[in-house]
Amino acid sequence: MADLETLKKEAALRAVDLVQSGMRVGLGTGSTAKYAIEELGRRVQAGELTGIVGVATSEASDTLARQVGLRVEVLDPRALDIAIDGADEVAPNLDLIKGLGGALLREKLTEVQARRLIIIADHTKVVNRLGEKAPLPVEIAAFGFLSTIERLRAQLPGGRLRQPGAQPFLTDNGNYIYDAQLPGAIDPPTLERQLKGTLGVVDTGFFLGMAERAFVASPDGVSELT
Ligand code: 5RP
Repeated sequence: MADLETLKKEAALRAVDLVQSGMRVGLGTGSTAKYAIEELGRRVQAGELTGIVGVATSEASDTLARQVGLRVEVLDPRALDIAIDGADEVAPNLDLIKGLGGALLREKLTEVQARRLIIIADHTKVVNRLGEKAPLPVEIAAFGFLSTIERLRAQLPGGRLRQPGAQPFLTDNGNYIYDAQLPGAIDPPTLERQLKGTLGVVDTGFFLGMAERAFVASPDGVSELT
């Protein structure tokens, strides 16, 4: 049976097939998006795609994209033709949870400007409801974070500050992340509004109504959710 890495790559290649010469492409972050960036670089180096400009959603993806020979520019107000990214959870209506890789803010800032957001994932990311498997990452300001966490715990008690070692995880934007456990019955748009209205919250890992389609790879092949 194909391992998860093979499946991630299969999904990524399907998304890269949508990229045409001259496009401005949002480059996602994570172990699945990595395969898309590598394949884009390969096609550019092979002359199969020309005039591609990448806009990276993290320092890590920026570095990788340059390593594989892509031209990378910073995000400006111009639209992107397409963005390709992974996700932590994909609901049947293509609402997403993202941010376990910690890049949610730059991902959202970039992908909201994309005419098409294409999600690539292996089958383990598909859920019936958001929060079924993954926590909801909430990016919070480092200043006053203990107070912000109290405000968040009052709404979502099950969460905790992301802290892999002695220090809290630091995002590319110098912020921290609170990983919130979602209760069973939530309305994502309502919760998103509530969290965004909480002092100290910068953004959440809810990506609602943004994705156009998802390529989901399983041992049976790649299926397309639209
Ligand atoms: C990073 C993200 C990633 O897209 C998400 O975590 C999926 O990553 P992976 O492909 O490694 O499972 O949102 O902020």
